[in-house]
Amino acid sequence: MTGIAKTRPFSKVLYALVLIGGVASGGPIEFGAPALAQNIKPEPMPLPPSEFPTPSADLEALIARNDAVALRKHSWLLWSGLTADSSQSFNGRVLPVWETWLSEEEAFSPVNQLVAAAAAPRPRILRPFAPPRQFQHGASTLARALAAGTSPRQRLLAFVKMSPEAASFLAASHETPAKSGQSYSYVSASDLAQLNAAFDQHNTAVKDRKIIDFPAAGTDLKMVFLPVKPTGLSAIPIWNGAADSSDPAQPTPDSWKTCVAVDPTNSQTGTAAISCNGRQVQAEIVPLNAFYSVQIDAAEAATINSLSKLAGAAAVQAGEFQVLVAMHVTTKEIANWTWATFWWQNGRNPPNDFPGSVADMPDASKVKGPWRNYAMCISDSMVVPATDPKGKPVVCFNPYLETNQTDGLNSNCMSCHAMARLPLTAAASPYPQTYLPNGFVDLADPNIFGGATKTDFVWAIPQSAH
Ligand code: HEC
Repeated sequence: MTGIAKTRPFSKVLYALVLIGGVASGGPIEFGAPALAQNIKPEPMPLPPSEFPTPSADLEALIARNDAVALRKHSWLLWSGLTADSSQSFNGRVLPVWETWLSEEEAFSPVNQLVAAAAAPRPRILRPFAPPRQFQHGASTLARALAAGTSPRQRLLAFVKMSPEAASFLAASHETPAKSGQSYSYVSASDLAQLNAAFDQHNTAVKDRKIIDFPAAGTDLKMVFLPVKPTGLSAIPIWNGAADSSDPAQPTPDSWKTCVAVDPTNSQTGTAAISCNGRQVQAEIVPLNAFYSVQIDAAEAATINSLSKLAGAAAVQAGEFQVLVAMHVTTKEIANWTWATFWWQNGRNPPNDFPGSVADMPDASKVKGPWRNYAMCISDSMVVPATDPKGKPVVCFNPYLETNQTDGLNSNCMSCHAMARLPLTAAASPYPQTYLPNGFVDLADPNIFGGATKTDFVWAIPQSAH
C-alpha cells in the first residue's frame, strides 16, 4: 500500500485550459456539441431552512441516544431534496438538483473562484464518468486487476459532486487557524504544505492541526453508474448479501449471482434468461425507468472516453444508458458530517436488512418515481455510544463500492473519512486497513495525525489539491 494513487482520471491541465478559455472569451465555450456547452447553474438543496441544515445540536442529541429511525428519516429528507426536480433541463430532461452541482474537477479548478464571484454561466461537463478512484488505491489484487482493465468491474463509472456551499468554500481562501492572520487556499497543494509547516513551527497540538470547518450546508456526493444497452436486455447485478457472491469475503458487484434484466423499452415483464457475471440465470425483467438513468450521446461518449482514458470494452458507447446504482451522501450538519449511502435494491430490502433497507422512506410526494427503489444505510457515528472509544462499531457500506475495500463489509464512512489528511506518507496507511476491533478514530491521535493537517473528513482535498 503506497498511499493514494496520483493518477487522475481527468486531466487537470485539460480542465484548467477548457475552463480558463471559457472565462477569458467572456462566455460559454462551444465544444462543437450541445451536450457539453450547456450552462447549468448549481442549485442549492431545495429544503426549507427549518429542515436543512438541521441544527447540529438536534442531530447530536439523536446520535447520543442512538435514535436510528429519526436519523434515517433525516437522511431520507436529504435524499428527497437531492433528487427533487431542479429548475433546469439538459437534453430535454429536467435535471435532479444534485446533477446541477459542480463536479470535484470543477470545484478544484483554479477558475472556480472566478466563477463563484461572477456567478456566470459556464461550460459544464455534468457527468464526468470515470472508473472509481477508490478501486485504484485499494490494497487488494482485485483492485489492481480492475485498474489494469481486465475485469468487467471496469464498467462501474463514478464521479463526485459538491453542493454550491461546499464549492464556494473551496473557492475562497480561509484564515487558518481562525484569527491567525494567515490565509490559505484549500485547493492549492503549496498553500496546504505551508499550512502544515506553520503547524510544525507553532508546535500546534495534534487535535488542532486541521483546516477550518466547511459550512453546515456543505454537501458532497459520490455517484456510481452501470451501463444498459439501448436495445435488448442488459444484466445489472443486484445485492443479495455476501453469501450470494462467488467471493463472499470480498463480494464486489461482478461476483454477485443475482441480476435483473433491464429492458430499455420499458415494455416487457416476467423473467428472461440472461448472462449474469458469466453465469446463465433466469432474471426478473425490470424496466429502465425503475432506475435513474441518463442516455449518453456521441459527443459525451467521446469526451468521457478521452478524458477518462476508456478504451475497448471499458469505453462508453454512444446511445447507451448509464443507470445510477449507488450514491454516497455526506453533509456538514454536524462536526463529523452526517453519512448515508443509497443503492438500487428494486424498492426492496436486502437479506437481513444488511447493510440497510428502505425503511422510514417518506411518501411518494417527497421521494418520487425511481428514487424510491434505493435502499439506504447511515453511519452518523463511528461507534455506539458515539463518544466511547470502546463502543460497538457502526457498519454502513455501499455494496457497489466498499465491497472492493479490504474489510469493507465491516466499514464505516465516518471513521475512514476522519483520516483524510495530508501529507500522505508511504509509511502510514492512508485509511484504516481493518475496522476491527471497532473503528473508533481519535482526531487527536499522534500516530495518525502527528505532522499532518486534517482536511475536515474530505478526501477530495488531499486527492485533488493541485
Ligand atoms: C476505506 C475508506 C473509505 C470508506 C469506508 C468510505 N470512503 Fe468515501 N472516500 C474515500 C476516499 C479515499 C475518497 C476519495 C477518492 C474517491 O473519490 O474515490 C472518498 C470519497 C468520498 C466522497 C467524495 C468527497 C470526498 O470526501 O472526497 C464522498 C461523498 C464519500 N466518499 C462518501 C462516503 C460514504 C457515504 C461512505 C460510507 C457509506 C464512505 N464514503 C466510505 C474513502 C472511504
